[in-house]
Amino acid sequence: MLDGLIVLVSDGPKRSAALADGLGLVGRCEVVSPDIRWDKLPGVSAVVTDLDLTRANAMTCLLALQRQAWGAGLPILCLSHRSSDRALRQARMLGASACLPVYAEPHVVVTALLNLINPAEGSLNASARQCAERAAAALEGLFGVAEASRFIDLQAVDGCVDPLLSALRDGGLARWLNTIRAHDNATYQHSLVVAGLAAQFASHIGFPEAQRQRLVRAALVHDIGKSRVPRRLLLKRGPLDSEEAAVMRTHTVLGFKLLSASATVDPAILDAVRHHHEMLDGSGYPDGLSGDAISDVVRFLTICDVYAALTERRSYKPAMSSAEALQVLHGMSGRVEPRFVHAFGKAVAQAG
Ligand SMILES: [Fe+2]
Ligand SMILES: [Fe+2]
Repeated sequence: MLDGLIVLVSDGPKRSAALADGLGLVGRCEVVSPDIRWDKLPGVSAVVTDLDLTRANAMTCLLALQRQAWGAGLPILCLSHRSSDRALRQARMLGASACLPVYAEPHVVVTALLNLINPAEGSLNASARQCAERAAAALEGLFGVAEASRFIDLQAVDGCVDPLLSALRDGGLARWLNTIRAHDNATYQHSLVVAGLAAQFASHIGFPEAQRQRLVRAALVHDIGKSRVPRRLLLKRGPLDSEEAAVMRTHTVLGFKLLSASATVDPAILDAVRHHHEMLDGSGYPDGLSGDAISDVVRFLTICDVYAALTERRSYKPAMSSAEALQVLHGMSGRVEPRFVHAFGKAVAQAG
């Protein structure tokens, strides 16, 4: 149990009840309204906010929290009601140490909060963790823009590339994966995991820096089309039925169209977005490409993508171990490039 008080500031106490219960399992939790007087709450060890930041009293509340001397270094976890770049920037400016979407499950919020209070062993150090948070926030912003507008500026993805490469350089792949896997949104989490794997893979096989960055960019946006897939499918707590799976498969073409409408997109990235589910034997989608019609960048990315999906935990399936996932990939010969699978296995093993 935590020593100090966890304050949950909420403008919807009913909505926050399950979260308050979850937080209560790890410390004394008090739910307060945004009209709280902070100086009347001694011994606070962390704050979680579940507030609509478009409301004036939410802003006033967070500004008052920031003004408190004891606010320096106090972990503040902001549950964001909107995922736009602007909303996340606003939360950061108001002192949030980290943000999660408001629909994050209580156990995810609790884990993230405990990580903020006491960084878990095996997670990134403070500066690398900040890089991971910056990369996640930039990616969240990118998906937010993709959801809301007809095209996106791919330059925004560069906001993810540098923090990701710095975090990997400072903390290594295993720590990057540990940290990112605590992130709630499955799509961002998956994209950041694939990007970390792609960066490690590219380093291992000696890609020049420019090519490595290109592979990382492609990995970060490979599932951008999911921003156009109905949210109920993305959030479904169970396997998709065949009709739903068919809708989900459209994310490849949706992502391709979204990026094609944007100016000057690297053709290799367009290729990766459209074709990362193609298989060498022609059994993939959306175009049923086979053999040489599938570029090396796509072949690399597909391996990272499959490995990431197998090692991710979902509410309906446990995470596979790294060894099990590699075994599955080795068993996919004919569908994925065996030489690359072999090299990928070494790259992952080298990262510990
Ligand atoms: Fe995909
Ligand atoms: Fe994917």
